[in-house]
Amino acid sequence: KFAPVILAGGSGTRFWPRSRKARAKQVLALDGERTMIQQTVERLTPLVDPAEVWVITNSLLDDLIAEQLPEVSREHILSEPAARNTAPACALAAFLLEPSSPETVIGIFPSDHVVKNIARFAEVIRAGIALAASGEKIVVLGVPPTRAETGYGYIELGEVVKPSQVPGSVAVRRVKRFTEKPNAEVAEQFVASGNYAWNGGIFLWSARTLANAIREHCPAMAPLLERIAVAHRTSKEEFERVFTEVYPLCDNISIDYAVLEPRSAKGEAGAEIYSLPGDFEWNDLGCWSALHEHASGCPPENVSLVNVFEGEDPLCISIDSSGNYIHAPGKVIALVGVTNLVVVQTKDALLITTRERSQDVGKVVAELKSAG
Ligand code: GDD
Ligand code: MG
Repeated sequence: KFAPVILAGGSGTRFWPRSRKARAKQVLALDGERTMIQQTVERLTPLVDPAEVWVITNSLLDDLIAEQLPEVSREHILSEPAARNTAPACALAAFLLEPSSPETVIGIFPSDHVVKNIARFAEVIRAGIALAASGEKIVVLGVPPTRAETGYGYIELGEVVKPSQVPGSVAVRRVKRFTEKPNAEVAEQFVASGNYAWNGGIFLWSARTLANAIREHCPAMAPLLERIAVAHRTSKEEFERVFTEVYPLCDNISIDYAVLEPRSAKGEAGAEIYSLPGDFEWNDLGCWSALHEHASGCPPENVSLVNVFEGEDPLCISIDSSGNYIHAPGKVIALVGVTNLVVVQTKDALLITTRERSQDVGKVVAELKSAG
């Protein structure tokens, strides 16, 4: 059995002003007609009945998510009483599913990714599910790196293996070491060595393997989640009461730091980690410049030559201008002699920055918060 768990509790502040607390990027159609979370479920439908999908989010987004995903059971959309990053969210899924079906393969899927090659995605994930089902194994997706990005985790790839569960079209390697978000110097060394992949943020493991990993690496968190799981089996009311009281006590930590780094540092003993190729044209839409790159459809080195205008069939005039990303629905847009700008207009806000600085847009939200 396969149970995909979609993580959708992030705030996506780097997409301000389109992304707001109650309209975070996962519920926005940043790319095309469908929202990020709808696309996430859609790409899983060749693998699983959507009724089996779980979504872990918060109470600001849950109703909207339920509306956008009518095919997902409402009882499978859980709202955290407090955001505790991804480790408690992953652990929650493991402890809820382990008692009744420890062999179920849990797939952790972020809701902020775009994937162009859906057929290849399904092929690789299917192979990953088979591998994860075959024992105490952790399966991760290694994306071929194209730059020394410091916003990702890195996977040091080890020997090539050929497990019988995996077809020849999907290459499998052991993971030697996992490093979450290294500094620029280290990231450059990793990429130059040719032996590292980006962590694609997708993990496959049986409910038992994940629960055991939490018990081992997060000993304070495990009993809290056991309590929540017991309450979940008791009644809806009891679950809500215990979840609200206990979940905020979990450490605020990502699964990468909490489990993958320490697990990989231990080497041989315990669950083995395997990497499958994330070669399905994956992109983490992290900020406006990433969206610009994605929407332009050209290789990264050419993006500075292309303007992208988003809105409802905007009338756009560009004179001696390139590399700009403009979102201004309902406006006539004219550019004269400007390059590499990001301009995003919504009903009540206007962002002006550059492609280079769009990573820093989250700081605007922090300032707005502290200004009350
Ligand atoms: N439910 C819930 N609760 N979801 C959360 C929370 C939370 O508190 N915090 C984040 N998420 C969701 C986000 O919405 C996103 O879909 C996913 O979890 C991953 O969180 P990000 O905050 O986007 O992580 P990241 O991109 O910085 O880093 C992770 O992904 C990279 C690839 O995209 C790491 O796994 C990196 O190693 C990896 O390279
Ligand atoms: Mg992300």
